[in-house]
Amino acid sequence: MSMVFLCKVSDVPPGRAKRIARGRKPAVAVFEVEGRFHATADQCTHGTALLSRGQIVEGRIICPLHAGSFDLVTGAPMDLPCDTPLAVYPVDVREDGIYAEIPD
Ligand code: FES
Repeated sequence: MSMVFLCKVSDVPPGRAKRIARGRKPAVAVFEVEGRFHATADQCTHGTALLSRGQIVEGRIICPLHAGSFDLVTGAPMDLPCDTPLAVYPVDVREDGIYAEIPD
């Protein structure tokens, strides 16, 4: 487990998401919801859609491909066809930006 710098706070507009490419490692999505930041795997567990391109509704991220959704705090699937939890990563907001604890 490593604490990884993701981006600056100003890189994530309110109510939106930012995709963080990580070379050969899976991309991470950072979401802003009412002043709080959440980091998750960017790829939907149902298919190949990028959740950073989805829409945030009441603390859930709606997948842009089939409209399944996940809770951004727990990663729990909330709407079918999603039935596999999404990886969520603990976030630490520091002076220089947003970090998350991500498995190596
Ligand atoms: S790929 Fe996300 S709901 Fe199907």
